[in-house]
Amino acid sequence: MDRLEEAMTGSEQAPWWPGLWRSLDSLQQPDWTGPELSRIVRLLAALPPLVAPADVSTLRHQLREVQAGRAFVLQGGDCAEHLGRRAVLDAQAKYRLLGRMAATISERTGLPVVTIGRLAGQFAKPRSRPVEEVGGRLLPAFQGLLVNGPEATDAARAPRPGRLVEAYATARDVLELLARLAGPGSTRASAVPVNNWLGARGWSADPVPLSAEGAAYGRTSRVRDQWIHRGLWASHEALILDYEEPLARRDPETGEWYLSSAHLPWVGYRSNHPNGGHVRFLAELSNPVAVKVGPDTDPADLIQLCHRLDPKRTPGRLTLVSRQGAALLRSRLPRLVAAVRDAGHPVIWMCDPMHGNTVRTASGLKTRHYDDIAAELSGFFEVLTGMGQLPGGVHLELAADDVTECVGGGGPQLADLPTAYRTLCDPRLNDVQAVALTELTADLLRTPGAGRMPVLTAAAR
Ligand code: PEP
Ligand code: CO
Repeated sequence: MDRLEEAMTGSEQAPWWPGLWRSLDSLQQPDWTGPELSRIVRLLAALPPLVAPADVSTLRHQLREVQAGRAFVLQGGDCAEHLGRRAVLDAQAKYRLLGRMAATISERTGLPVVTIGRLAGQFAKPRSRPVEEVGGRLLPAFQGLLVNGPEATDAARAPRPGRLVEAYATARDVLELLARLAGPGSTRASAVPVNNWLGARGWSADPVPLSAEGAAYGRTSRVRDQWIHRGLWASHEALILDYEEPLARRDPETGEWYLSSAHLPWVGYRSNHPNGGHVRFLAELSNPVAVKVGPDTDPADLIQLCHRLDPKRTPGRLTLVSRQGAALLRSRLPRLVAAVRDAGHPVIWMCDPMHGNTVRTASGLKTRHYDDIAAELSGFFEVLTGMGQLPGGVHLELAADDVTECVGGGGPQLADLPTAYRTLCDPRLNDVQAVALTELTADLLRTPGAGRMPVLTAAAR
């Protein structure tokens, strides 16, 4: 029996608890053990959950619709968020842009769009190398503001556990802002979009009557203020497990464990081993979860990963985010899709056309070319539909600002990059590029074979 066949036969789930990752190989963790860290982890465990189990379950329900081909996912935001007030302002801009993008896709295709921000927790970065050279000096790599600072000094690059509490407070503020933006009586009559899921299911600038589910949800929200959500779901890479573990909580109603730091946590490409600490940590949490898969992901590992994260094969539970790079997509993605299809796992396939297409300019800036991004997205649709599978969504890094970080697509050219290069980590699409990619996504969804047109609305026709 080869490894792929062996993986297809499945494996027993071992006993689980939130601290299990500590005894496993957990990559990318900061070097910061000590009494201060222990004190902070205990403090986080005593703070209120950030998201409510009822909301996690609503998102699970929405993702089941996506898996069935009756909805599409738009996920986007910064590569790495700021901490503090800046993060809240950034989140407001993302809310507006993602809302406009979702509305365009919805109007052009007739499909409801589940809209998910990379925010309220996207503070940590996996790094390919633990050190980096800045101005001829070797420094510990910047791991995101959850861990250390970006400034090129040894002091800034030292990991500081106190950042975990600042991150928690920022995430809470961002979630509160999103709730205010989307909540009843907020700015619903203005240009701020309202995700009226299960009503007309889209984003709209007009006041929209709440559906029964929305109204019920609104009632819950008013009682438990910090749990309000409507409009934009929160997602981030669950990378730093000293932050995530104390935010794993039991749902008081069902007794099930869920992760209260995000509605949708994901595992990154560099930490997606089926036996690694990250995958095992998410295995028994009731949230929907996503995993990045790329050109070096082994089909046998991927099937094991599906067994670990979705042993009961629950539609909507597991999303696989493909990030191959335009050049490798056609040679690498089909065998992954075939393995999952043949194993019968009901995953959602999403496309991240950003992370496989990062290049460096002669002066050392990281950038991405719009044409590569567009080529990967188009190729993804072609591969999936050619194999009888549904393209379920798109995952983007975007600034919701007039930055000059990616090249082309009606945006900056190479020489313009230094003008407004502001990212804390990877290069993001600016507004013009994000809108161009939205139009492309809508066009791709409308091509015959994208296979998911239910009943087209008048506007979509
Ligand atoms: C990211 O999403 O910012 C990231 C690091 O992605 P990946 O794990 O796909 O490299
Ligand atoms: Co990134």
